[in-house]
Amino acid sequence: MKIFRLPMLVAVLCMAVVLPQTAAAQTYPNKTITLVVPFAAGGPTDMVGRVVAQSMGVALGQTVVVENRAGAGGTLASAYVARASADGYTLLLHHIGMSTAPGLYRKLAFDPLKDFEYIGQLADVPMTLIGRPDLPAKTPQDLIAYLKRENTKVNLSHAGLGAASQLCGMLLQQAVGAEVTTVPFQGTAPALTALIGGQVDVMCDQTAQTVPHIKAGKVKLYAVTTAQRLKALPDAPTLREVGLKDFEVVVWHGLYAPKGTPAPVLNRLNAAMRDALKDPALVKRLDEVGVRVVQESLQTPDGLRNHLREEVERWGALIRKAGTYAD
Ligand code: MLT
Repeated sequence: MKIFRLPMLVAVLCMAVVLPQTAAAQTYPNKTITLVVPFAAGGPTDMVGRVVAQSMGVALGQTVVVENRAGAGGTLASAYVARASADGYTLLLHHIGMSTAPGLYRKLAFDPLKDFEYIGQLADVPMTLIGRPDLPAKTPQDLIAYLKRENTKVNLSHAGLGAASQLCGMLLQQAVGAEVTTVPFQGTAPALTALIGGQVDVMCDQTAQTVPHIKAGKVKLYAVTTAQRLKALPDAPTLREVGLKDFEVVVWHGLYAPKGTPAPVLNRLNAAMRDALKDPALVKRLDEVGVRVVQESLQTPDGLRNHLREEVERWGALIRKAGTYAD
């Protein structure tokens, strides 16, 4: 029987862990990668996901397919990826909702701060406050008065508890001092279809989806949710300009892998993500709809991890104040 001394045993165990990881990194990726998007196809997260998947696929020399796993404000997809094989072939693109979910759900099937590896932040997407085409309110001030006057008679659509549209709608009600009826959908793609069709009255949605519809006159644009006006929609006032003090919602996005994904694979994915974000075609496509690629220092595992931690705290406090929960 072989007797290992402790240092030798530790060295053997380390090699047993490191060697398969190195081997995996050398051959990675050798099959299609799935990028899970937590909302319906055709919506803003899907749009960002597909643009990134296309450019990352080129950088990795492998196809990256988008899989939409909508439901429960993005939490079903997050739970799915948290439990997927940690081999780099199942990734998650998620947004600010990753940080609001722990505050909004008393029971969550995953822990955003423990169950993932962090690849990096990608892009920031502003939101717009829009209304159905025949809504009587003409200006943002008219809309605020309408919300206050009609309260629960107003239907506000969103993409479920944990979606950016739900967060923005919740903050809007708080800021205006109104309580509207909220109507959840599986994503803002179906929510916007309902708005265009006049089945709901108002919604907050990301420019990645709304800009073409606003330009085509299919919805009424009232304001943008950023602190400054947007180049893509220069005539739209900010909600701050129309009297909602300190109002700001920007939908930041991150790329995640299941906990335990080998470091060499994560490094490869981070390099491919950073290459993709330099792709002039991607930058142009996103810029046209007001989406801004984040600065390079945030395109890192620490950039995403630290921002997520801060955001979980920030939104947790605000959500407790608003008293919005799901059991
Ligand atoms: C979507 O893609 O449907 C949206 O990002 C949902 C949301 O967060 O509002």
